[in-house]
Amino acid sequence: MSHASTPLPATASKSEALSGQVRVPGDKSISHRSFMFGGLASGETRITGLLEGEDVMRTGDAMKAMGAQIAKSGDEWIIQGAGNGALLEPQGPLDFGNAGTGARLTMGLVGTYDMTTTFVGDASLSKRPMGRVLDPLREMGVQVVEAASGDRMPLTLRGPKRAAPISYRVPMASAQVKSAVLLAGLNTPGITTVIEPVMTRDHTEKMLKGFGANIEVETDGDGVRHIRIEGEGKLTGQTIAVPGDPSSAAFPLVAALIVPGSDVTIRNVLMNPTRTGLITTLLEMGASIELLNERKAGGEDVADLRVRGSELRGVVVPPERAPSMIDEYPVLAVAASFAEGETLMEGLDELRVKESDRLAAVARGLEANGVDCSEGEASLSVRGRPGGKGLGGGTVATHLDHRIAMSFLVMGLASEKPVTVDDRAMIATSFPEFMDLMTGLGARISV
Ligand code: S3P
Repeated sequence: MSHASTPLPATASKSEALSGQVRVPGDKSISHRSFMFGGLASGETRITGLLEGEDVMRTGDAMKAMGAQIAKSGDEWIIQGAGNGALLEPQGPLDFGNAGTGARLTMGLVGTYDMTTTFVGDASLSKRPMGRVLDPLREMGVQVVEAASGDRMPLTLRGPKRAAPISYRVPMASAQVKSAVLLAGLNTPGITTVIEPVMTRDHTEKMLKGFGANIEVETDGDGVRHIRIEGEGKLTGQTIAVPGDPSSAAFPLVAALIVPGSDVTIRNVLMNPTRTGLITTLLEMGASIELLNERKAGGEDVADLRVRGSELRGVVVPPERAPSMIDEYPVLAVAASFAEGETLMEGLDELRVKESDRLAAVARGLEANGVDCSEGEASLSVRGRPGGKGLGGGTVATHLDHRIAMSFLVMGLASEKPVTVDDRAMIATSFPEFMDLMTGLGARISV
């Protein structure tokens, strides 16, 4: 799809102490939703701080293909939305590139429209399971006209004349599945209910409320969330300031922890509690991370993070923490490679169906660089080597996965020998500024 077939390797080498103040790009989850909900709402939405990564741009293109007007003016993105229930049938397939969030949420958003929509993506996205979204959509009356085997993309949806509201218990911890059903509910008469036994990131609920949707969340005595949305209501354009992405901040953060003597401040990071599991874990490992200037911005908790080089020790990361740090396990595994003792991570089933099989990709990358680790069905244990002695010297297969590429480049900054990743191209999907930001802090990365 968008990426040339010739891979673009990069190599990270042992670096002197990192220092400086940086801002990471806008949160990817909030950026996708800003384009989607802005494109759907009536009137104007203005967005600052948007992540201008390839994944989010694909979502913007999809919304444009369905009738939204989206343009950039200075630092601001300005959207004229189509109106809830008023999206147009796209003229051609919607190409989501590498973006699971864009594809799955849009399937929910448009699946219930009385129109035909085709979804395509790159080799990584075409391997990922879409049945988790298609199953509830089928219950609402959506036809999957065509799909690659195992409910994979490319696939074509045909919506019903009028969708049926459902009550759906999400069978895995997935914000994408929850969101797809809620978005399908927006174009469905009556109340659509999502039952979420394990809480995942709550950006869809919060932002839809901000756009004026009639949505309520109730948590029962067992901690199970019941989210009810009323369909066919009006959404109204909003002004959104997207905070920095904690999943991107994770890379300079872990780099500063493992490179001795580092002192790095990362400003304006989203601290929504459904996203801060990595920070909790690193603090337990003995990391020096100070939360400065804690504040509220646009209804979200935000802070600056001051991070200093630290001697880490291994911990057990409980399975129930996985949803709040699901995208951060690869870089946590890198931090664990420099910790004293063993780090055990459990409850990692969902890592198998990310942009790559991240559990296998991380384990193979660690092994290639001399790290003693064991991969279980849904667990990973890593026995660290403080100081990075003997680590590095390998080449990591990134499997079209941006977070695998960035994690192992971070690893090379503190390993005795350099670490090479076979392809850096996908970093542009979520963190186009990664190379410049890291080298600006003093990281030795060559391409
Ligand atoms: C996301 C949800 C998570 C996460 C992804 C972004 C979202 O995926 O891994 O990067 O924005 O809703 P799952 O829903 O598959 O856990």
